[in-house]
Amino acid sequence: MVTVIRIDPASPDRAALQPAADRLRAGGLVAFPTETVYGLGANALEAAAVRRIFEAKGRPATDPLIVHIAQPDALPGLVVDIPDAARILAERFWPGPLTLVLRRSAAVPDEVTAGLATVAVRIPSHPIAHALLELAAIPVAAPSANLFSRPSPTRAKHVVDDLGDRIDVVVDGGSTTLGIESTVIDLTSEAPTILRPGAVTLEAIRRVLPSAVSRTSAAADDRRDGMPSPGLLDTHYSPRTPMTLYEGAGAVDAIVGDARLARNRGQRVGILAADEDRRKLGAAGGVEGGPPVKIVAVGPADEADTVAAHLYAALRELDAADVDLILARAFPARAGLGVAIQDRLRRAAGQRIAT
Ligand code: TXA
Ligand code: MG
Repeated sequence: MVTVIRIDPASPDRAALQPAADRLRAGGLVAFPTETVYGLGANALEAAAVRRIFEAKGRPATDPLIVHIAQPDALPGLVVDIPDAARILAERFWPGPLTLVLRRSAAVPDEVTAGLATVAVRIPSHPIAHALLELAAIPVAAPSANLFSRPSPTRAKHVVDDLGDRIDVVVDGGSTTLGIESTVIDLTSEAPTILRPGAVTLEAIRRVLPSAVSRTSAAADDRRDGMPSPGLLDTHYSPRTPMTLYEGAGAVDAIVGDARLARNRGQRVGILAADEDRRKLGAAGGVEGGPPVKIVAVGPADEADTVAAHLYAALRELDAADVDLILARAFPARAGLGVAIQDRLRRAAGQRIAT
């Protein structure tokens, strides 16, 4: 059975964290909170420990991991060169939710990088992650601590639900703050290229690196050239229940209509909503005698931070409610964190999008 260690994120108790650091050093699997989502950590320099991550998650060995470090001085041991772009981004955004893809050194096992010539690295800003990495004093490979293809965990309970009988320790530091995985940027291509949007936005990156570009999962080119980043798979982060994403101005009205039709067929409907949708959605439950509708609201539609923080917990809650289908509304995605929210919702819907 997994050991759960409760730590106050406001002032992490190092003595209480020490056993978790010891487990990492001994080749164990330790889940811990970061500012984005919970990670499932193992010693990044020990191939056997890293293989256990893939086994526990049921993750294909072709999907590379992010290596987490406590200080920039650990970077030179993992990579063969540090381009200026990396120095600029590290200076501006580390510690924080930005992952840099760089040319890897021979010290990094193939298991971490899925045999690629590059390695993904970040310094998380969460006080517990930071203290744990310092105590362990090793680079820690850590994907999100969920079963492969399920929504990433934003609370310790999500980790225990998915992986409780497969890992050694969960450090419970409460809810993560951002709720969406880090921005991944490739610095080995001609122009710095965002492979996965996150809280560090393209706009913010362009302020220090004007040549940066973004490559989204929706671009058909990605699949034609093979797979630049396996995290760009279309169905990732998905609930088990079939989900449809409603985009465009009439999204909430369309959800009301489709929810009524589904209830008429006797189906149980789950709805991912914004706070202000509740009044309109009352009408979705208006069919006499049909099964109840489960509505989970994630915050005001125009507050991207709030929406991101609640998104994955909401998907898990809808999944656990035993509904037959999930109808989700889209959120403003013109810029900033909205782009990352749209990316995750489209993938959760397996690209089933109603407009
Ligand atoms: O916020 C986060 O990044 C969280 C926390 C725990 O740090 N971690 C996370 O890891 O989301 P994971 O494994 O769920 O996602 C890692 C992403 C995947 O899309 C993977 O394909 C990509 O990073 N990646 C890792 N190494 C790469 C590489 N060498 N080249 C391109 N993409 C890479
Ligand atoms: Mg993941």
